[in-house]
Amino acid sequence: VIKQVSTIRERVQALRCSGKSIGFVPTMGALHEGHLQLLHASAKENDVTICSIFVNPTQFNNPDDYKLYPRTLDEDTALLKTVSCDILFAPSPEEVYPPQQPLLQFSFGALEDVMEGEHRPGHFNGVATIVSKLFHLVQPHRAYFGQKDLQQVAIVRQLVHTLSFDLDLVCFPTVREQDGLAMSSRNTRLNLEQRQAAPSLYKALKIAEAQLRQKSVPEIKKEVAAFLGNVDGVALEYFEIADPGTLQPVEDITKVEEVALCIAAVVGPVRLIDNILVNLN
Ligand code: PAJ
Repeated sequence: VIKQVSTIRERVQALRCSGKSIGFVPTMGALHEGHLQLLHASAKENDVTICSIFVNPTQFNNPDDYKLYPRTLDEDTALLKTVSCDILFAPSPEEVYPPQQPLLQFSFGALEDVMEGEHRPGHFNGVATIVSKLFHLVQPHRAYFGQKDLQQVAIVRQLVHTLSFDLDLVCFPTVREQDGLAMSSRNTRLNLEQRQAAPSLYKALKIAEAQLRQKSVPEIKKEVAAFLGNVDGVALEYFEIADPGTLQPVEDITKVEEVALCIAAVVGPVRLIDNILVNLN
């Protein structure tokens, strides 16, 4: 377990000098099976796997969400000892963000004007800031991200390209609970009733998928809103049918080969997101 920036730099430099390939899985902790599968994928493809746990203050647009985000570093550390992870980098906020350091400003154009970018102002600026810092410190050959946060993957892909980070980005499929709920650290904040309602996000995506070839985009959106309107305790924030690369809304499904169906909803105390990719050929 490494907590200091200077120490991770030294370790990474030594690994790189000895010709080891480095796989990197950045997380905010409260680890679940989704995180573990990213680590497993990294271990298969790299000599050394580094996991980071850092609840990044700059990407939270809602102060309560930051305050109440689950922090389980002891359990996470114990869990990481049982899986294929070689180094845990778990710095403090002061270590990552020295006082009086102005926050960098990124711009991702249309990519951040939609969905999460539109509903969580500043979120992707914080993500881009921390991911850039971590990439500089960890210098991975491959970095692993989950499809669960599809727009984050698109933003990081653009970041890697624009800042010429010398690494391969791997997008890993969403890991789900048996009832379809996408695994998320925030799920631990749901009570029993809310937990039972939460799989309705995935159900809504599957309803939309089943109708893609029969109905128009506005009709499908109406259907999804009506379905979730009937689920107690779930408030739909958005449902979008988007181009998987640009994440811009698709108006006419007959003109594209693949779509991303993306959803965000508030369930009890938390905001959950999910998506599926649908090939239309
Ligand atoms: P966090 O939400 O902890 O997620 C860490 C990584 O695990 C992300 O790449 C996320 O997409 C992936 N992940 C989460 N749930 C998953 C699931 N059910 N299936 C597959 N992958 C899943 O995303 C972040 O942290 C932060 O924004 C971070 C990138 C660490 C920057 O602070």
